[in-house]
Amino acid sequence: MSESSPIFAVILAAGKGTRMKSNRAKVLHTLCGVPMVNYVIDATRPLVPEGLFVVVGHQAELVEAVLPEDAKPVLQEEQHGTGDAVRVALAALEGEDEGILLVVNGDGPLISDKTLGELVERHSSAGVGATVLVAELEDPSGLGRVVEDAGVVRIVEERDATESQRQVRLVNLGLYAFKLSEIRSAIGGLTSENKSGELYLTDVLETIGRRSRAVTYKLKNPEEANLVNDRSQLARAEEILRRRILDTHMRHGVTVRDPASTHIEATVEIGRDTVILPGSLLRGQTSIGTDCVIGPSTDLQDTLVGNGALVEHSVGRGAEIGDRVSVGPYSFLRAGTVLEPGAKIGAYCEVKNSRVGAGSKVPHLSYVGDAEIGAGANLGAGTITANYDGEKKYRTMVKDGVFTGVNTNLIAPVTVGEDAYTGAGSVVNKDVPAGKLAVGAPARAIRESPQRRRKRAGRDGSAKNETEG
Ligand code: UD1
Ligand code: CA
Repeated sequence: MSESSPIFAVILAAGKGTRMKSNRAKVLHTLCGVPMVNYVIDATRPLVPEGLFVVVGHQAELVEAVLPEDAKPVLQEEQHGTGDAVRVALAALEGEDEGILLVVNGDGPLISDKTLGELVERHSSAGVGATVLVAELEDPSGLGRVVEDAGVVRIVEERDATESQRQVRLVNLGLYAFKLSEIRSAIGGLTSENKSGELYLTDVLETIGRRSRAVTYKLKNPEEANLVNDRSQLARAEEILRRRILDTHMRHGVTVRDPASTHIEATVEIGRDTVILPGSLLRGQTSIGTDCVIGPSTDLQDTLVGNGALVEHSVGRGAEIGDRVSVGPYSFLRAGTVLEPGAKIGAYCEVKNSRVGAGSKVPHLSYVGDAEIGAGANLGAGTITANYDGEKKYRTMVKDGVFTGVNTNLIAPVTVGEDAYTGAGSVVNKDVPAGKLAVGAPARAIRESPQRRRKRAGRDGSAKNETEG
């Protein structure tokens, strides 16, 4: 077969995955944040410019929803086995008779594009009808055993195997390269005469073997043989992927203090010289800049972090943390939080749907919700926005340079003007004019604020110096 033969790939993802004991289709279970089927697609994609088909069936709509655009779903209405799944895929490939069909089980998330490439390469250069990827395993249980009878490769499913066949440790990994014309003519001959009453794709090997040739190709990297049929295998495969992700970050200049306790999902980006401290969990569309210190015990999901930020013992959900911002320990940043450069969110604070301006400080025990805080403001310990009246949410505006005393309650909707100051325990339910000191419950503006007085004094001082000079 020439190098230019077209290659089509079919990923089998219509099964339920009974041994997962799950309400969710097996291929939708995630490893490091990404559904199993997507790993398989990523490994297959580099080989198949001609077309990548995914056979869906059980929870078809949910599976289709996670497929990338270049993967075409093919519906297998009822799941009558792997042979039936390939039959359905071949119908979708009607008219194509030249080239190679690569068939990939959807439950091998560790299979690499390199291995698939080698399988196809070996298959093409040998000019055979079928090539199946196999591995010698310590524990072959649950997998189809590879037996050879007079030079013909056969695969016997565990439940159909004799006692001596079960002793075989050479197993079928569920990856095959077929001559398209051969699989087309063999697939129609499948019968369901076996213990599970399904059409076994594996039975075509014998048919093809007798007509042209069917051969095995041995997997080189045993790690890739971690197929997922149950939850402990899921955990084992995920552990390998987790280590790979950590290694990639470390190779790119990220320090990971304790790889054993650090979980970083496949989708996360981290800049160089950032240090990840023990017990941290970084998930989803989280992106972290350079020179940050994240952790210990920090859990960020869909959170953007700039450069040089510190986030300690804290949780972020859909937040934006600017350059040189410091967060924590023990703070909770919820969706819509934007912390501008140099801001500080201290210990035991919760921030939601709020912007905190550059260099502003919310150092201790605050709740900031639906608020707009300007630059250079300082909220005293225990300052709280009362944003919710039991029915609606309202916004709080805190302008540049504001200083609130400890335990200030800001009853929204309310605006605290630029350079205003509130006394300890103020209950602010009316706007405080710029530059005023407001005190009491409810708070009243009584005189010029201290910071405005200092600023004015500073300005006067410099004006004086100028006249003197
Ligand atoms: C299959 C092989 C077995 C091999 C093992 C490797 C057969 C008969 N047996 O067994 O030799 O060792 O894979 O993992 O092929 N699927 C469909 N439609 C169906 C049935 C299954 O799309 O009607 C999909 C599943 O979603 C899954 C893949 O095919 O991704 C394999 O199916 P599964 O039921 O896990 O096959 P095994 O019993 O593990
Ligand atoms: Ca399987």
